[in-house]
Amino acid sequence: MSDAQSTLITGIGELVSNDGQPDDGQSNDGQPNDGQHNAFAAMTDAALVIAEGKVAWTGPAARAPAADSVVDAAGRAVLPGFADSHAHLVFAGERSAEFAARMAGRPYRAGGILGTVEATRAASDAVLRANLRRLVAEMLRQGTTTFECKSGYGLTVPDEARALALAAEVTPEVTYLGAHVVPPEFAADPAGYVDLVCGPMLDACAPSARWVDVFCEDGAFGADEAAAVLAAGRAAGLDARVHANQLGPGPGVRVAAAAGAASADHCTFLTDDDVDTLASTSVVATLLPGVEFSCRQPFPRARRLLDAGATVALATDCNPGSSFTSSMPFCIALAVREMGMTTEEAVWAATAGGARALRRTDIGHLGVGARADLILLDAPSHTYLAYRPGVPQIAAVWQAGRLVASMSPQAAAAAGP
Ligand code: NIG
Ligand code: FE
Repeated sequence: MSDAQSTLITGIGELVSNDGQPDDGQSNDGQPNDGQHNAFAAMTDAALVIAEGKVAWTGPAARAPAADSVVDAAGRAVLPGFADSHAHLVFAGERSAEFAARMAGRPYRAGGILGTVEATRAASDAVLRANLRRLVAEMLRQGTTTFECKSGYGLTVPDEARALALAAEVTPEVTYLGAHVVPPEFAADPAGYVDLVCGPMLDACAPSARWVDVFCEDGAFGADEAAAVLAAGRAAGLDARVHANQLGPGPGVRVAAAAGAASADHCTFLTDDDVDTLASTSVVATLLPGVEFSCRQPFPRARRLLDAGATVALATDCNPGSSFTSSMPFCIALAVREMGMTTEEAVWAATAGGARALRRTDIGHLGVGARADLILLDAPSHTYLAYRPGVPQIAAVWQAGRLVASMSPQAAAAAGP
C-alpha cells in the first residue's frame, strides 16, 4: 500500500479509540478530566479509515465510506498502538544470573547497573546498534508503536553521547540519563560527577536528546543533585522526567513536580503527600510493573493514584537488570491482576497515558487526525490482553498508516498484499 492510498479497516468487533469526552470531574477510567478529549472510549461493530498516515474516519461499520483497499477485521478488536514511555535499550551484556540470585532471595540494589556499564563501554557501535534494533523489532511485534529510549549505561562523555546518537536513530523520544548512577571512577567525588553531567556531558548529549532524566534514590542521586541535573537539562532545552520512589520513600516525586517534569516513573513507595502532588499537578505517574515482577517487590498502588485523580501511565522499563521485558501486554496484565486497575484503565494507561507522559497529542488515541498507529488484536476485545496473559495476540500493527508487523496467517490474509 502506498501512503497516497486510503485503507478501510472494517468488521472491527471493538474499536478502542480513546477519544471519549471527559466526564464531570470524577476520575473514572484512568483519564484525568482536564478538558482533553481522550478518555477511554470503545465502539462495537466499527470501521476506521487510514489516509496519509492518519486516522481519517471512524464510525459504525455500516456507514463506512469507500477506500482504496479494505481489511476485514472479522470481529476482532483494534486499539491504538502502545506508547512505552520508559525504556533503557542501549546496552550490552545481560544479567540473568542477577535475576536468578534475586529469585533465590537476594534483594535488588541497583548495583548491577555498573556491570552493564562495563559491558556497554566495551561494546562496539555495531553490537549496541544490533542489540537496540532487536529490541525495537521485538517491541513493534508486540504492538508498541512509540517508545522512549534512555542513555545511562555509558556514564562518560563519549559513551553517553554515543548511546543517545544510537537511540536517536530509532526514536524521537530520546532521554539523557547521565545521572543514572555515579560511575566507579567518580566514587570518591560524586559532586565532580554531577558537575560533569551538568556540564560537558550535557553539552555533548543535548543535541541528540529531547528529555533529561535522573535516578533520584538512595545510592544514586539525592534531591539537590537531581534538581541540579534537571535544571541544567532544562537550560539546555531538555524537558524533565524522573526515576522516583522506586526502592523506598524519598524526594523523587517532589523533585519531579518542582521541576515541572512530564512524568515521575516507578512511584512504588509513595506517601499521601506524594499522591496529592501527583493528583494536583500535570506530572504523570508512570508505573512499571515489570520491575516489581522481576524484583519480587510489592507492586505500586495504582488504585490509590487513580482514585486520587492522578494520571497513570504504564511502561515496560525494559532494561537488562530490573525489568527485561519489552511487552506492554504483559504490563497490562500485571496492572490489572496485581495493581487494581480495570482493563479499561490499564489499556488507557498503556496508550493515552504513555502519550501524556511523552507530552504527545498525536498518538495514544484513534480520533480523526491522530497518527494511524494501531493494533489489530487476535481477540474480540481489549480485555483479552489481561484475560489471556502471556499469549501472543497482536495480529497486526500499523505505524503511521503502514502495516509494519503481521503475526498470524489470518491477519496477513486480512491485511491483504
Ligand atoms: O529503571 N532504577 C534505575 N534504573 C533502572 C534499572 C537499571 C538496571 O538495573 O540496569 C530502572 O529500574
Ligand atoms: Fe528505568
